[in-house]
Amino acid sequence: MSVHSLAYLVIGARDLAAWTSYAESVVGLMRGDSGQENVLHYRMDHRSFRFRIEAGEADKLIATGLECASRADWDKSLSSLKNAGVAVEVASAAEAKARGFHDLFRCVDPAGNPLEIGWGHIVSGTPFISPQAVDGFITLDGDNDMGFGHAVLPAPNIDETRAFYVDLLGFANSDEMRVYLQGGPDDPGIGMHFLHAGSPRHHVIGLAQFPNPSGLVHTMVEVATLDEVGIALDRALAAGTHISSTLGKHTNDKMVSFYMRTPGGFDIEYGCGGIRPDWSNFTPTFTIKEDLWGHVWDFGQ
Ligand SMILES: [Fe+2]
Repeated sequence: MSVHSLAYLVIGARDLAAWTSYAESVVGLMRGDSGQENVLHYRMDHRSFRFRIEAGEADKLIATGLECASRADWDKSLSSLKNAGVAVEVASAAEAKARGFHDLFRCVDPAGNPLEIGWGHIVSGTPFISPQAVDGFITLDGDNDMGFGHAVLPAPNIDETRAFYVDLLGFANSDEMRVYLQGGPDDPGIGMHFLHAGSPRHHVIGLAQFPNPSGLVHTMVEVATLDEVGIALDRALAAGTHISSTLGKHTNDKMVSFYMRTPGGFDIEYGCGGIRPDWSNFTPTFTIKEDLWGHVWDFGQ
């Protein structure tokens, strides 16, 4: 398995103040030190950042940061992409360090989603303390990093994009879903593909067969208890944050979560209890009912 986990997101933002308020008062993330005036770093664990918010002209995802567990896996990913004719740009040592990695390269998937892939993470050295007293975000499996969550990316050309992740980066199928919003016998449904990497997260990358102007459909953060999820929902309601989905439990990863809109236009799924399958003994699923209960959507504007 070449890629291991989701390390971070880099997000372009027109309104840094809106992000400051949202990240600290609603999500409960800790402000880190980006070293730059127009860049916010937000932490959720021992790492120097998991969300990097850069002031810019558009609210748009700049990069999904993926992590390889070793130099060998990173080399394998890089050569696999090069051999397939994918344009890759190896970052300078300084650029990699700014992302918290020893080495880093950039590429773009067939749906146009920008990726950064690194290995050798640099530990922050300062403890995580949430401004909202969140006990902690789940980013470890035992002592092992399993990334901060998952990202669901827009991929209208879903088959081609899925092949990129599976054939070139070593992802594998966890669940293939079809969502039938119209209903009736002629509704072809919309594809949602969920792919796991080396970490035990049920999926690290999800692909949605539709475009999204923010560049990201949603990203998931996980906390330890249902109480932490409910308290976060209370914070979101108090702040007037748009609740995109009520509490619910997903069929595929069993995550109990709600979804809320970020200042970036995409959603954060805030959940607990996601399963961690044993990949040596796992049968992928095909889902046509997304939820065991709940998750009533309000897509808003
Ligand atoms: Fe999700």
